[in-house]
Amino acid sequence: MIIKGKLLVDAACAPEPGWIRMEGNRIAELGSNIPPEKPELGDDDCIICPGFIDAHLHLPQIRAVGCDGLDLLQWLDRVIYPAEMQWSDVEHARVDIITAYRRMVRAGTLGFAGYLTSHPTGPTCLIDSPAPYDLPAHLGQILMDRQAPDALTSKTLADLSPPAGSRINWSINPRFAVACNDEMLAQAANMAGGNVFIQTHLAESKAECELISKLFPDDPHYTGVYDRHGLLTGKSLLAHSIHLSDEEWELIARRESIVVHCPTANTFLSSGLFNLDSARDHGVSLALGSDIAAGPDIAMPRVGRAMIEVAKIRGMMQSASVHIPSPVEVWNLITHGNADALNWPDCGRLSEGSYADLLVLKPDIPCDEFLIGRLIYTWQNRYIKHRVIGGQLIENAELARAI
Ligand code: GUN
Ligand code: ZN
Repeated sequence: MIIKGKLLVDAACAPEPGWIRMEGNRIAELGSNIPPEKPELGDDDCIICPGFIDAHLHLPQIRAVGCDGLDLLQWLDRVIYPAEMQWSDVEHARVDIITAYRRMVRAGTLGFAGYLTSHPTGPTCLIDSPAPYDLPAHLGQILMDRQAPDALTSKTLADLSPPAGSRINWSINPRFAVACNDEMLAQAANMAGGNVFIQTHLAESKAECELISKLFPDDPHYTGVYDRHGLLTGKSLLAHSIHLSDEEWELIARRESIVVHCPTANTFLSSGLFNLDSARDHGVSLALGSDIAAGPDIAMPRVGRAMIEVAKIRGMMQSASVHIPSPVEVWNLITHGNADALNWPDCGRLSEGSYADLLVLKPDIPCDEFLIGRLIYTWQNRYIKHRVIGGQLIENAELARAI
């Protein structure tokens, strides 16, 4: 299949007229100007770009967005644990999975790292009936064994064989150290064995950090708890990471773990202002996540906009100089930056040999030097005319279905 349009190969440069030829699930060829054959999709006014990647969200929380007025620990007890308890019912889990996949794809998210619940129903569901779209994913059953309703403590761990013919990779997801005793954290490290991604939450709220120092009085700090168990690896995704000391940043950098910034969630739960400068100064790899449902918005350009706004707010509050990411930096992060963080070097970019996970945009905004800023700040899902996943065109009518 050939798609024609302006190719957004490098967000720092104006998109140039050209075409993409796909073979199987990959990009076979990119060319400029006139395509060699009649294109099946696109036209001169379209912009072709890679799909977005979300480095942190919770599929079972898809119906729990917007329950405001609580801090992290209250919100988990009152909103999230009741929502996740519904996954004891396989049909409920299936509907949540389909809903979350449809909403992601509608918003242009064509790859993600995420959480299921502590039940084996999530993995079982995905093994028994394939997800509606074949998105690349690191996805894991939650591990937790305390400070939660009995119905949510991990009892049965699902078989970790990957769903046949799918781009899902199982990850190990100890929820956070508040909900995991030492045995559970040790088991998580053992299951990960250094091979698969580990996803967890770190230092999101001050109350959570205070609880950690009571639960783990012998550890020097929150990050040290995970490190003692070998949970800080080059494949560890540490969501939030707001309330960290320099010593903790240094430790994360030494272990080459990845910090996942979740700006919309941090504002929603009033958890704090992420210190992007600490991440940069320590050379820590960064990814960006919607964190549905603490984050209210699944569209990654809007999460990117929140990243810029949070940095600007920190800048206005501090006398020291603060790095304000540009729209281009943010665009790079939600495409190939997140792909690199998730170890998918052949995703999130327009290049020969990469997966053909593409968006064909037709935004009603000028295609000028401010294009990327205009896209980030005014993003609407209706800007997307077509979505291509692994070389397959997705039917818009099918996407519009509720379930
Ligand atoms: N910390 C532990 N669990 C969660 C969760 O589900 N969402 C967020 N935002 N933080 C958490
Ligand atoms: Zn989360």
